[in-house]
Amino acid sequence: MKAAIVGAGAMGCLFGGLLAEAGVEVWLVDVWPEHVAALQGRGLAVEQGGRHRTIRVRATTDPAAVDGADLVVVFVKAVHTPAAARTAAGIAGRGGLVLTLQNGMGNAEALGRAVAPDRVLAGTTAHGATLLGPGAIRHAGAGPTVLGPWAGAGRAAAERVAGLLRRAGFEVAVVDDPRPALWHKLLVNVGINAITALTGIRNGQLLDLPQTRNLVAEAVAEAATVARAAGVAVDGDPVDRVLAVARATAENRSSMGQDVDAGRPTEIAAINGFVVAQADRLGVPVPVNRTLAALVETLQGHAGQGGGPER
Ligand code: PAF
Repeated sequence: MKAAIVGAGAMGCLFGGLLAEAGVEVWLVDVWPEHVAALQGRGLAVEQGGRHRTIRVRATTDPAAVDGADLVVVFVKAVHTPAAARTAAGIAGRGGLVLTLQNGMGNAEALGRAVAPDRVLAGTTAHGATLLGPGAIRHAGAGPTVLGPWAGAGRAAAERVAGLLRRAGFEVAVVDDPRPALWHKLLVNVGINAITALTGIRNGQLLDLPQTRNLVAEAVAEAATVARAAGVAVDGDPVDRVLAVARATAENRSSMGQDVDAGRPTEIAAINGFVVAQADRLGVPVPVNRTLAALVETLQGHAGQGGGPER
């Protein structure tokens, strides 16, 4: 099976790198020339638990260089999904599958519009990774990956992709409908990403103070109420689950934190902003999520204007 990753950020590099290490022909496609040049020249440098290794990878800025793939994994930030969907559709050709494991909501829908919906798989991953610079990532936390057919791709297609990822060392569960998993991951991102982005802390530091633990709990509880109002079953204690992910990825700076640090647009609209939009539709009050979304939008609106917090 030939695979391509569209969006070779921290997570794209992690998945592409581990697939390449397992002997899969995989191409990393990204728009950042220095990063692609580093990947081509030196390979992908991976730091994990203080240990370093380098993985040889194929990388390109030109999607046409891939010349077709059986599987395209989209890992761009949610704001770039519509453009990445067109790239993925070109690479996947007539028969390839397209998988999104991105954060936030709305990605599978965008892929379905560009590729036939019955070739789209969607899911989530609990891995945490940080882009350290061109060609270099830190693998900061491991966890399960869940995927399934978005609209008619069928379980067999999802099983084939899961088998490939398992070969690369990922723990993967296949589900018939990925939507509940997407909501559960949304709750994780709702609780971790905006707060770490705004405060400059790492995921694990969310647990250090009662103030931040309370903020996480309130944001997640609001989002869980919205999920239930939208007909999604949220069993057990979602706050406990989110705090467990913060603990498991303690050393990671959340992806939104990395975006804010680098002055890039964030995924706030697809995470807390999505919760606010759904809450407004369903008549659920979500003051904490509304505030978090407005604060991150303020920060990103002033990125590069000297308005960000000094770190
Ligand atoms: O967006 C992220 O950073 C990740 O989804 C997670 C799981 C919160 C780990 O940092």
